[in-house]
Amino acid sequence: MGPPGAGKGSQSTKIVKKYNMPSISTGQMFRDAYNNNDPIGIEAMKFIKNGNLVSDEITNGIVRTRLLRDDAETSFLLDGYPRTVAQAIALDGMLDDMHTSLDAVINILSSHDVLFERMEQRRVCKTCDATYHLRFKKPQEDGVCDLDGGELYQRLDDTHESVMRRLEIYESKTKPLLDYYSNKGILYNVNGMQSFDKVYDDIILVLEDIK
Ligand code: AP5
Ligand code: MG
Ligand code: ZN
Repeated sequence: MGPPGAGKGSQSTKIVKKYNMPSISTGQMFRDAYNNNDPIGIEAMKFIKNGNLVSDEITNGIVRTRLLRDDAETSFLLDGYPRTVAQAIALDGMLDDMHTSLDAVINILSSHDVLFERMEQRRVCKTCDATYHLRFKKPQEDGVCDLDGGELYQRLDDTHESVMRRLEIYESKTKPLLDYYSNKGILYNVNGMQSFDKVYDDIILVLEDIK
């Protein structure tokens, strides 16, 4: 968990490599569906581009389907889900059905001015979704992905207005979830305003400690 731009996606990519598990990002699933002209993606993008949340019903539906795939049977990482108390309750139901539960909820903390800077300078690869930052993680060649030569683009929801709306929604709808998980005793806070590697090391310390 963490506000928009905190580094959830950047850290997930590395964590799932280490632990060999799938990363399930609802935002990424919506963007992929939109890029594939899937009706759910087109519907979702109407909300996403203005910084609003997609409905709980649609979001819970795509997660439920995704969790049933074989690769999520033993372990998985959720990025950007749940984001409302209703989603957290729905997730508990799905996990009960799977006879499992969450081991840890990692919350990446960051201040608003850092978040604005990060999102406005973010660029993403059209082909492989790798994320860059024009200052902190520059591609070797402007506009081109280092990994596969794919074209880099700016997300539709990384405009100043949309980022403001996303932060507002984070404060009102998503932050209350921190209490939900803190009460369950599985919430771990990590300082996201450090280097990529330091944030990663702090997360791994938590995960190794609870193993
Ligand atoms: P989603 O895709 O989840 O976006 P988000 O939560 O707004 O978060 P971001 O992906 O923008 O940021 P991030 O934390 O992944 O940061 P990143 O690693 O990229 O959701 C998008 C939209 O989809 C939502 O607004 C909503 O409309 C919809 N949606 C998704 N899930 C939903 C749900 N459950 N319910 C309803 N609707 C839902 O990093 C950001 C930038 O900073 C990058 O450029 C990166 O290179 C840089 N950076 C990261 N870490 C560092 C560091 N340590 N130092 C320097 N730079 C850094
Ligand atoms: Mg992300
Ligand atoms: Zn790429």
